[in-house]
Amino acid sequence: MDRSKHLLRLCDWSGNRIIDTIRIAIRLKSEIREGKPSCRFAGKTIGMFFEKPSLRTITTFQVGMHQLGGMPVLLDPKSIGINQRESVKDIARCLSRWIDGLVVRCFEQSLVEQLAEYGSIPVINALSDEYHPCQALAFGQTMVEQFGEDLRGKTVVFIGDGNNVANSLMALSAKLGMNFTLACPKGYEQKKEEIELCLPDFKKSGGEYRVFNDPKEAVAGADILYSDVWISMGQEGQKNEKQSHFVPFQINDELLKLAPSHCKVTHCLPANRGEEITDSVMDNLQINLCYEEAENRLHAQKAVLWQLLH
Ligand code: CP
Repeated sequence: MDRSKHLLRLCDWSGNRIIDTIRIAIRLKSEIREGKPSCRFAGKTIGMFFEKPSLRTITTFQVGMHQLGGMPVLLDPKSIGINQRESVKDIARCLSRWIDGLVVRCFEQSLVEQLAEYGSIPVINALSDEYHPCQALAFGQTMVEQFGEDLRGKTVVFIGDGNNVANSLMALSAKLGMNFTLACPKGYEQKKEEIELCLPDFKKSGGEYRVFNDPKEAVAGADILYSDVWISMGQEGQKNEKQSHFVPFQINDELLKLAPSHCKVTHCLPANRGEEITDSVMDNLQINLCYEEAENRLHAQKAVLWQLLH
């Protein structure tokens, strides 16, 4: 399989392609603001298969496809019955005869991989248990808008679980020469194989990967702090045990005082206000860029479609 024909994991894309995608996203955003959208996808359709809940991703892919002149089609996982009513292979082959691309939110990364393997259309990972590449691209766009295109040496400090969002932000950082720091309780680090996947890119781009188990130590030198829920979708059973370890990893005004004065904050959303981030930080729109990042989901994903659909 040619992985560059899909967006399955961000580490499959080159740094140049990521920067090109961010440039396209910024252009598409300004076209919408000027009321002159490109109609590149007239007559084209994407399928949207979501096994997990969503506000931002499901809305922005649909609005984005409409803005580009194409049409999204919502596919109902219950009705399709993947691997129950029908095999992944047959679903992928049939969908490839009707639509031009497939956007998938699922539990297991292996599902997006199989859909890409068996079908002949681009597959876009809209979040799996392992990765969230669309979120990372929207974050990259937000960083370029804030700090300019050369992000080398900027430091992203992810405070929370070493989860799918952390994996994709780590990949983005490695590709663009940023430093990526994870601050998490002991035992909640990213998997060794995920880190190893990114180390060659860090070496090539000059970025650095670090892990701290003390959030106060981690924020020194940060350009941006990144927050996410402590309990990811599908981990609800682990809530009580996990939450107790994460209490010191809340982004609040006290923690922010230990970061450099220019340091910004963001969150992939949805946020559990009062848990991983306080109301006071969420509502401080001088430093909190999460709504810019949410807006950029729309444009970054249009740029992904621009790159992949022909
Ligand atoms: N950040 C994100 O993916 O939001 P949704 O889960 O609402 O799509």
